[in-house]
Amino acid sequence: MSRRLEPVTQPITFELDGESIVAQAGEPVAAAFVAAGRSTLSRSIKYHRPRGAFCFSGGCAHCLVRIDGVPNQYACQVRAKPGMRVERQNAFPDASIDVLQATDFVFSKWFNHHEFLAGVPVVEKVMLEVARKLAGLGLLPEKPAPAREPALVEHVGVAVVGGGAAGLAAARTLAERGVAFTLFEREARCGGRLLVGADEGAPAIALPARGDVRTDATVVGLFADDGPPCLAVLRHERLHLVFYERLLLANGGQPTLLTFPNNDLPGVYASRAVSRLLRAHRILPGQRIAVVGEPDECRALAKLITSAGGDAVAVGASPVRAHGLRRVDALTVSTQGRVEKVACDAVALCAPVSPSFELARAAGARVSWNARSRLFVVEADSRGRATPSTWVAGELRGPMSAAASAEAGLVAGHALADDALAGGRP
Ligand code: FES
Repeated sequence: MSRRLEPVTQPITFELDGESIVAQAGEPVAAAFVAAGRSTLSRSIKYHRPRGAFCFSGGCAHCLVRIDGVPNQYACQVRAKPGMRVERQNAFPDASIDVLQATDFVFSKWFNHHEFLAGVPVVEKVMLEVARKLAGLGLLPEKPAPAREPALVEHVGVAVVGGGAAGLAAARTLAERGVAFTLFEREARCGGRLLVGADEGAPAIALPARGDVRTDATVVGLFADDGPPCLAVLRHERLHLVFYERLLLANGGQPTLLTFPNNDLPGVYASRAVSRLLRAHRILPGQRIAVVGEPDECRALAKLITSAGGDAVAVGASPVRAHGLRRVDALTVSTQGRVEKVACDAVALCAPVSPSFELARAAGARVSWNARSRLFVVEADSRGRATPSTWVAGELRGPMSAAASAEAGLVAGHALADDALAGGRP
């Protein structure tokens, strides 16, 4: 089962459904939950299937909880604070034993809630009332949201989004070439996969000595339709409207699920979630972890797991079906045509991330289907230029290692610097 690899050095306590949970100060609520050996963090909306955190990067919504009276907070993104009140939502009487999961057994094949009993007099009306009571995600907040300060308007020459391997390499290049930039990284530290991934041979990239690097800064929108282009950045609860001349996007992608029955059971994690738990939070999410999917990534992650004292099993196999009632306890896998069931208490899915192309699309870049990777990727020229004022680098262009992302960041950084130093408006 899951455990901490090191003792908690700065313990704090928060409340989960009335119970005390000890966390390392500043770690995400979901990480403390895993370290405490808990499995069901939420319930799915329709079938009330148990869910645990999957991606640990704010991309899957499996971890939505109510915190201090505010619904639908990402437990993998909110840092635990002393006295915080965390409640699991959408379950009766609670998320561990939810009687509404009967829906999953009764409608084990599927259930079209748009047409169920529609057109049957009286019953239709009753069903509508019942559905209204049961549907939705969370209850309304306890009190109105506090008034926010007005947005801060800023103007920058070059904006860089993402401080992972590609963004850091690009920023260093810009700094070396004497091009001023402002980098926005949503996490507390820059580094991305270089800090929390399992990649082998990834280069260490130091923060550039010059340049404006802003961490805890999430780019939530990009507006380029009317007037000068502008980023909407949320930082420390305040909205910043950042008008830019040139933009370099290196905001990567989100883990994807591999398709097999019961892939949503608690204990099934994206491979990057497992490496993040191990490297950033020193938490081993299971003792016997099935590491399945893309072989190179599986090998690197298996090495990380074994070096932390865990057992990596079924390494590189293809998942066929997960088993377990409240959390995964076994996985059927296929290896070169041989099918077997292996016992495990966690599963790590190694699959290419899906490019987070929305900002690039809003900036006017073309997004196309790549048949080889079976993903939508951002189109750009060989130096990363996607529009006259936008450059892209790293996994926005498709799956690649951290080393390849850093190389792409370097190339795009030079291309943008050439353009900026040549002068004129993009
Ligand atoms: S969004 Fe939190 S685990 Fe995926």
